[in-house]
Amino acid sequence: MSPDLLSGLARAPSAIAPDATLLPGFAAPGTELLEQLGSILAVAPFRHMLTPGGHRMSVAMTSAGALGWVTDRRGYRYDPCDPETGRPWPALPASFAGLAQHAAEAAGFPGFTPDSCLINRYAPGAQLALHQDRNERDFDQPIVSVSLGLTATFLFGGLTRAARPSRIRLEHGDIVVWGGAARLAFHGIAPLPAGFHPLTGSCRINLTFRRAG
Ligand code: SIN
Ligand code: FE2
Repeated sequence: MSPDLLSGLARAPSAIAPDATLLPGFAAPGTELLEQLGSILAVAPFRHMLTPGGHRMSVAMTSAGALGWVTDRRGYRYDPCDPETGRPWPALPASFAGLAQHAAEAAGFPGFTPDSCLINRYAPGAQLALHQDRNERDFDQPIVSVSLGLTATFLFGGLTRAARPSRIRLEHGDIVVWGGAARLAFHGIAPLPAGFHPLTGSCRINLTFRRAG
């Protein structure tokens, strides 16, 4: 088998769990996303938020769209304004929303119209503990997650915290979509190993698209 054919096979969509799909390289090359990201960050820079329990998150976050996900001592929620500036979050670029809609459709969830994009930045050592995405209003809408930069290990578990998670390698340009029976699956990111990526340097960026409101 030719190397081309092999890499083609390796990059075919694959099921992580029922209603959870890995779309390898779907967002490649990702350069336009990163350019647009620069304009978002100029208005709403990354920040390390506090959990309700008072822990500073190792992942730096910001948002774009009509609603942004925030956490502080009062709890987790979506807010139309950035608490750092009191101003609305930057608009979701049409290209971001289009990509998310395309990916959702490819994974079997047509008609996805995100109104929120949570943007995560992982430096080496940063991690995201197992959690469910459950602050959104409508669990019929999937989550679309785009990975850029350094490779990470995605932990994808079941509907209870106790279920042992699968470990999935997420590379630059990969997209994961989960909805339906998997919508409330526990998931997280293992501590990020150090490395260098030509487009993001020493970090990983993740965009998760949601229909929050
Ligand atoms: C998230 O669960 O919000 C982000 C997951 C990831 O960084 O891949
Ligand atoms: Fe999540």
